[in-house]
Amino acid sequence: MKDIGIAPSILAADFGYLMRDIKAVENNADYLHIDVMDGHYVNNISFGIPVIQSIRKYTDMKFFTHLMITNPEQYIKAFADAGSDNITFHVECSEDPDALIDEIRALGKSAGISVHPDTPVEKVFPYIGKVDIILVMTVYPGFGGQGYLESSDERIRRLRKEIDDRHADTVISVDGGVCAENIKKIYEAGARLFVAGSSVFHADDPAAAVDELKRCCTLS
Ligand code: DX5
Ligand code: ZN
Repeated sequence: MKDIGIAPSILAADFGYLMRDIKAVENNADYLHIDVMDGHYVNNISFGIPVIQSIRKYTDMKFFTHLMITNPEQYIKAFADAGSDNITFHVECSEDPDALIDEIRALGKSAGISVHPDTPVEKVFPYIGKVDIILVMTVYPGFGGQGYLESSDERIRRLRKEIDDRHADTVISVDGGVCAENIKKIYEAGARLFVAGSSVFHADDPAAAVDELKRCCTLS
């Protein structure tokens, strides 16, 4: 993957005009971030497999499916078949993350593991080098539009150091509260793939908002 990437989260899109909103960012963004919530792991329900199948027909964007669901092992194949390119599950939701990672890979998809803000970041260290992406939640999962948790900086730094010490190529992604004002310092902490919902889709020009996030990140 490139040095930095932006993944707009469609949770912040207007679902009544979902393809219009996706089309607005498809040439500028690197991934489309797709938040699946089941009302069990998180206190909200978003959308699921049929929606992914539908939007898959109309864009070639890479789909990054963020599963905020219990029992993810029951649904990996369905989300792969629906058109996901990356499937990311929560470390808190799996008793056997290694098996899940293997299954995602066997389906030809890139694999990610995510960590809740209240879970020690060290909990995902065993998967460094095994997963393509570690998704550090920088808000409490379940809702868009929350503020970035400042305690995340230190967690990202610890994870960055561990990845670098092991010379692994696992990418650190962050999810929640990312905006033009804070993306640079999150980059400096060590993140490289930035999920952004509100700061992209609530902007007047979502494509320009993606470009602005990239620009802020690379400013010296
Ligand atoms: C929260 C989701 C995020 C959310 C980010 O549970 O996982 O992807 O859409 O939205 P913003 O960027 O608005 O915090
Ligand atoms: Zn997400």
